Amino acid sequence: MDLEIRAITPEETEGFIRATSMAFGQPPSDEDMAQRPSMKELERSLAAYDNGSMVGGAHSRSFRMKVPGGELPTAGVLDVTVASTHRRRGILTALMVDQLKGGQERGEPLAALFASESVIYGRFGYGIATVHERWSVDRPYTAYATPYELTGRLEFVGPEQMRRTFPDVYRRATAFRPGAIERPADVWDLIVTDYPPDRGGASAYFHVAYYGTVGNLDGYVSYRINGSTLSVHELMSTTDEAHAALWRFCFDVDLISSMAGGQRPVDDPLPWMMADPRQLKRTPYDGLWVRLVDLPAALAGRTYASEGRLVLEVRDESCPWNDGRYVLDGGPEGATCRPADAKPDLALSAADLAAAYLGTVSFTTLSHAGRVEQVSEGALALADAMFVAALKPWCPYIF
Ligand SMILES: CC(C)(COP(=O)(O)OP(=O)(O)OC[C@H]1O[C@@H](n2cnc3c(N)ncnc32)[C@H](O)[C@@H]1OP(=O)(O)O)[C@@H](O)C(=O)NCCC(=O)NCCS
Repeated sequence: MDLEIRAITPEETEGFIRATSMAFGQPPSDEDMAQRPSMKELERSLAAYDNGSMVGGAHSRSFRMKVPGGELPTAGVLDVTVASTHRRRGILTALMVDQLKGGQERGEPLAALFASESVIYGRFGYGIATVHERWSVDRPYTAYATPYELTGRLEFVGPEQMRRTFPDVYRRATAFRPGAIERPADVWDLIVTDYPPDRGGASAYFHVAYYGTVGNLDGYVSYRINGSTLSVHELMSTTDEAHAALWRFCFDVDLISSMAGGQRPVDDPLPWMMADPRQLKRTPYDGLWVRLVDLPAALAGRTYASEGRLVLEVRDESCPWNDGRYVLDGGPEGATCRPADAKPDLALSAADLAAAYLGTVSFTTLSHAGRVEQVSEGALALADAMFVAALKPWCPYIF
């Protein structure tokens, strides 16, 4: 196979979108194609051609991801596919290697993606860096443990008002949330369009705003109704009052017998607010997968909960420029990370470092899983104390 990998031209976007949809098992109709927004940042796209035909592709967008103490440029990887006729011949591997090199050349310390299957990306140095939960609960079991009274005001808003006002709430609600990525303007526009084939047989979006006692917009929920289930697309709050009011609202909509919601953070207070928390069915699953593309820049680009110095020996096959030993000096005020010759404290793979990077999993847990080797005594405890994050990593924008 004589493979050519390159960015697509504007004329090739339709073929790229059709090939991507085919690989996900959903060939688009001409009407679907006409409704689709144009592809953004084409120069970041990659397509694999075999004898001139497109047989695979991968795209990425320039995002910024929250990390403890700040945010870092991040390649948001999406539309990764290989034609079913060409699978398991190394095309994905070739695309991933090219994409990671591109990220390094652009100076993007991180790459991140949502995986269709959890077996695919570990081999390319991605680790599960956020975990989120799917929820469901039947209406009779939604009482709060303590008496509740609405203090602010709830109001339905139309798509245009949603578009104007919700992004700022999203921004404020995720300002200090490791793993959070801001939803780009064109994706907010898609929520306004609410294209019927994307509704999965459910209703159009309902958007509800919550205004606190002084009249500020402190939260919102966007949901659909599917039969007698209210399905929460997104609920964001900047105050505890908004959070309690919006969930109470979702539970109490008339003619609804159950509530379902995805992508909730694992430290959402709602389970602790319920009178009968066992009835809230919670299913955790892997959220954002993260990859440290420029390892020293990624480690130096976040702050750490405790002061410490660690020498890390990192194995990295798909980004060989990272492979080696680094000394990390970090604390609440900032960090430095440089190549080092010193004896390592911990030895691990790039994928495992990525999983621990935002604080989702501790180094101790990874060590018990046989994934991290403690070389110097006390290093696991020190690494855990440094990397832990006050808020559990969460990325509510799924791309
Ligand atoms: C997932 C997908 C992109 C893989 O492409 P591919 O070209 O077949 O992958 P490669 O040949 O480069 O595989 C590299 C390795 O990963 C393994 N692998 C790839 N996809 C896998 C999968 N879905 N399940 C298990 N293993 C997989 C291969 O077996 C191979 O392992 P090896 O190196 O030990 O031989 C392709 O199957 C696809 O398009 N699937 C449907 C769309 C999709 O899920 N895209 C991912 C979106 S996040």
